[in-house]
Amino acid sequence: MGWPGAALNSLNSGRAAARAMPTKPTPDMQKWCVDEKGQPRIDKGAENLCMDESEICFIDGFHSKLYYRGYSIEDLANYSTYEETTYLLWHGKLPTRSELSAFSDQLRNNREIPQGAYDLIRAIPRDTHPMEALRTVASYLGNVDPEKGKLGLDSMMPKAIRLTAKLPTVVAALARAREGKEPIRPRSDLSHAANFLYMLSGEVPDKFWERAMDVSLVLYAEHEMNASAFATVVVGSTLSDYYSSIVAGIGALRGPLHGGANEEAMKQFLEIGKPENVDSWFKENVLTGKKRVMGAGHRVYKTYDPRAKIFREYAKKSVEVSRDPKIADIYRVAERLEDLIMGQLCESRGICTNVDYWSGIVYYAMGIPIEQYTPIFAIARIAGWSAHLMEYVARNRILRPRLYYKGLLDVEYVPIERRG
Ligand code: ACO
Repeated sequence: MGWPGAALNSLNSGRAAARAMPTKPTPDMQKWCVDEKGQPRIDKGAENLCMDESEICFIDGFHSKLYYRGYSIEDLANYSTYEETTYLLWHGKLPTRSELSAFSDQLRNNREIPQGAYDLIRAIPRDTHPMEALRTVASYLGNVDPEKGKLGLDSMMPKAIRLTAKLPTVVAALARAREGKEPIRPRSDLSHAANFLYMLSGEVPDKFWERAMDVSLVLYAEHEMNASAFATVVVGSTLSDYYSSIVAGIGALRGPLHGGANEEAMKQFLEIGKPENVDSWFKENVLTGKKRVMGAGHRVYKTYDPRAKIFREYAKKSVEVSRDPKIADIYRVAERLEDLIMGQLCESRGICTNVDYWSGIVYYAMGIPIEQYTPIFAIARIAGWSAHLMEYVARNRILRPRLYYKGLLDVEYVPIERRG
């Protein structure tokens, strides 16, 4: 048998001799991306891609409705807790009293993070955005998980419990490290929401702030196949590990078009500063197309986001409870800007207030730094990411979409010395 390179050489020289001008693929070479007239059929942004069946969440974007497992978001915000909602998302039913108690205990008992994670948090440069730091520490927690290396559905639920319990500890420790403060260890006698606030400040919150945080976690817990859930499921569909999937979700959530919008919305209110500046700011920036209003517009909602309505009530109550004139001013800025959005963007163009518009005001009133708002979103959304991951992988098919290729084929390879 001769050296295979010889055959390859003759093939290459044959190809070079036969090479014609570069071509483009004909429509029938990529028929999954062309319509019956041979034109590209592109679903930019995957807007109309219905990639699977699901029983987790339904959004009725034209009637301001949102349901987790069939329960309305209003009922969940009124009556449920983050722990109960997470159980509902993962198990498909509301827990009995004893199921909820056992589930809450599992979360409470898994809050502590290993010393290595505290060391890593200390080593992360302080000017790192907390979402980028969270991504790093979440990944590290996968390296020290007792079931590390295990792939597939069986290990997902215990890992989901561990990481959901630990993320608030990581976020709080990162927030404190950013300010040069020592971390505060989690307490197991507090609710998920109260313990998080306690770890941030060292003070056990009163009932109003605990409930405000708890409701915000419920509102942020899940939202169907958004960008971060999709990123999570794409990774999971390769049968990769749980932590890799969640880290992908954190990465996607960080962007200002998705979870990062709650920080940007707050910065926008502060930039406007006073209620009397709103109209001119809107005219100069939004009506001219210079800026998007952050916390407005949504791929699915073409009317008011029902979560924004609930956050708005909490923002209003937060102003009353905090009695801080600065927060009252910011609230009035947001109120006036919302009037303009609803009057000039919502009905005519379907760009209405979304979940990220009012949430920041609630966190601002709690004294939480702005760069922590998206990490708070992440500690809530891990419930939804995990639910989708488990549901998808249970009936898995690798996610592998196509692109319409509009480049050239058979381009001659020019050796580097002849390229000039
Ligand atoms: N302010 C002003 N104009 C907007 C806004 C906005 N907030 N949102 C969309 N538009 C305009 C766009 O400029 C575009 O106008 P054009 O057709 O004249 O070019 C049109 O509406 C459609 O915009 P798209 O970006 O194609 O809409 P899409 O559905 O892809 O995007 C998105 C949705 C990303 C949420 C968008 O509305 C946006 O950028 N909003 C601001 C950021 C934000 O609040 N994100 C949080 C969303 S909720 C969440 O992810 C948790």
